[in-house]
Amino acid sequence: MVLDIYERCNADDGCRERWQRWELHRHIMNCILSERIFSAVKIKDAVVLGAGRCEDIDLKFLLDHVQSLTLVDYDYNSMEKALERQELSVEEKEKIILKGNIEFTGFYNKDFIDNVIAKIKMKENPATVMQFVMERLNSAASNVKELLDNQEYSLVISGAVHSQLIVPYTEIAAIDNEYRDVMMSEAGNIANILAENYNKVVASLVKKDGWLFSYFDVMELSERNNTLSYEGFINGLMAQNEYEKIDEFFVQTGGVAGARHGYKHLCELAEKYMTYNKSWIWNFRDNKKYYVHSICFRKV
Ligand SMILES: C[S@@+](CC[C@H](N)C(=O)[O-])C[C@H]1O[C@@H](n2cnc3c(N)ncnc32)[C@H](O)[C@@H]1O
Repeated sequence: MVLDIYERCNADDGCRERWQRWELHRHIMNCILSERIFSAVKIKDAVVLGAGRCEDIDLKFLLDHVQSLTLVDYDYNSMEKALERQELSVEEKEKIILKGNIEFTGFYNKDFIDNVIAKIKMKENPATVMQFVMERLNSAASNVKELLDNQEYSLVISGAVHSQLIVPYTEIAAIDNEYRDVMMSEAGNIANILAENYNKVVASLVKKDGWLFSYFDVMELSERNNTLSYEGFINGLMAQNEYEKIDEFFVQTGGVAGARHGYKHLCELAEKYMTYNKSWIWNFRDNKKYYVHSICFRKV
């Protein structure tokens, strides 16, 4: 089952270490939410998409400012465990609604996954397999809104999801070496289309006058990429508000598929609103960091 990749990815046991390491990351987001949103309004209903292990979400902080909080992810179990780890009180838990087994893009249904895998196992021509994939991509429609009972929210939060939407596809591509190259050559393009479709879903969940906050892991700084040493250089440019120079630099070194494009596309969708954009470096794990873009706006 390919979609259980999300549960498998979320299942490692470094939670305690990550919770400490990601403190600054959560703090930056809490400051944005406080300054931009919570200082002005009390939020009735909020939703977090891609809540997962909730390690980037300070649930107690959020619950202090909202009347109800819906957490959504394909992986239900990780969210349930997160409520225990963050030691929520009974009253806090009562404000939370968990929605699992929800796939955001509509691209990956069981029939589609079974069919692609069958085609690969039957050694169908790779070009025909890709044609099947692209047809599916063009006709797929997300049903997230219906699965959330057509509810709209006063605050919608999405964190580091855009980069993950391609993951099941890459799992399928890895099944057979003969198909891997041709499938992976389209992965960036598919990731970008999934990111655009996801943006539309996220935006459609925001009430009129409601808020949207999303962050994107647009660039990996890692040993693997040989880019860890650029952190100081990037911090220097951020201190001077030279964000375009950072982006130019990343165009040369590449970026995270889905995330870069998803950010750009959401900025375009939000053009008519007053947006607040902030970037920072997310200390993800030993030898791996992400340069993060975020956007926050009110859908007035
Ligand atoms: C990188 S994590 C975000 C961090 C997460 N909030 C945490 O602290 O653990 C992305 C989350 O989005 C979920 N996700 C990614 N793609 C998804 C999809 N297509 N449908 C539903 N959930 C998805 C994953 O299960 C994962 O929990």
